[in-house]
Amino acid sequence: MDLLPIKGHSNFDLSLSKRHDGYFVKKTAFRDGIARLKQQAQKQIDFDQVMRKNLLISNFFEAAAVTSSEETAEQYSFFMKFYHGQSILNIIESEDIYQLRNIIDKLFMFLDWEFENAKLEPLDTKKMLDKLESLDAKITEKKLKQTLEVMKKYIQKNKNMKMHMGVSHGDFTFSNMIFSHKIVLIDFLDSFIETPLQDISKLLQEVRLQWTLLLSNEKTDKTKINIGYRYLLKQTEEKLKVLMKKYSIDRKTVEFFYIMTLLRIIPYTKNKHIFDLLMKDIIAYTEVLKK
Ligand SMILES: Nc1ncnc2c1ncn2[C@@H]1O[C@H](COP(=O)(O)OP(=O)(O)O)[C@@H](O)[C@H]1O
Ligand SMILES: [Mg+2]
Repeated sequence: MDLLPIKGHSNFDLSLSKRHDGYFVKKTAFRDGIARLKQQAQKQIDFDQVMRKNLLISNFFEAAAVTSSEETAEQYSFFMKFYHGQSILNIIESEDIYQLRNIIDKLFMFLDWEFENAKLEPLDTKKMLDKLESLDAKITEKKLKQTLEVMKKYIQKNKNMKMHMGVSHGDFTFSNMIFSHKIVLIDFLDSFIETPLQDISKLLQEVRLQWTLLLSNEKTDKTKINIGYRYLLKQTEEKLKVLMKKYSIDRKTVEFFYIMTLLRIIPYTKNKHIFDLLMKDIIAYTEVLKK
């Protein structure tokens, strides 16, 4: 029995549904979206298996349990358990600020686990350049075209570089985490290359741009949220430095992926305020790449 629609951030339909064995979230895709949603469900299932192999990680994280799926020629749905938990905005508003440090600590434990299991592999320059070309085709702003030129040069200059390749969530923002007694991960995303650098850049997108707040329509205590986000940003940047040192990750590589992440969102951003924020960071971090 479908009960209520749930507001999401993508083109997929979400609704709460009740069955004899409890509450479930039903996520549905139509036509062109079907293949993508199937991949997402599979990644969610596979990732849960991988996390279960590590005691520490599985103590603090789980992927929302996928229970079943339905398919017709026109649409595909999968069901997952409904998790009672808090969003990051709930936490910032209602909990002690030091609770936020605890969350960042756990997220970096997760990133550390991803890097520990990643393999250093030669950079796939062709794949990177192809991706930049495909972004170029979707973008019209002159400033962004210039950024893409800087990025292409960066790849050509570093064609002998090695990169950490391995599992990543793919859309590692707070809007895809439910804070319960564990951090429940949802909304997995396949990336053009699987690297934990992807998760770092999504986390940076979250804390630098206050992403979940930007997408939210909830009435929130602006002052409290702002202080909370500043704290999250500070903690993230500090922990990131330690992680980069441990795995010899170059600052430019991190910012390259950060810019790439923002460039991928820009063609779909209709909101002028969000668009301007994305532009501002892309332009600012392009300078880091040029140095
Ligand atoms: N299994 C779940 N349990 C509880 N809430 C969920 C669950 N799945 C999704 N939600 C809620 O719905 C929102 C959107 O879900 P998500 O899968 O991220 O969709 P979208 O692709 O639209 O971003 C989440 O931010 C969360 O609030
Ligand atoms: Mg989401």
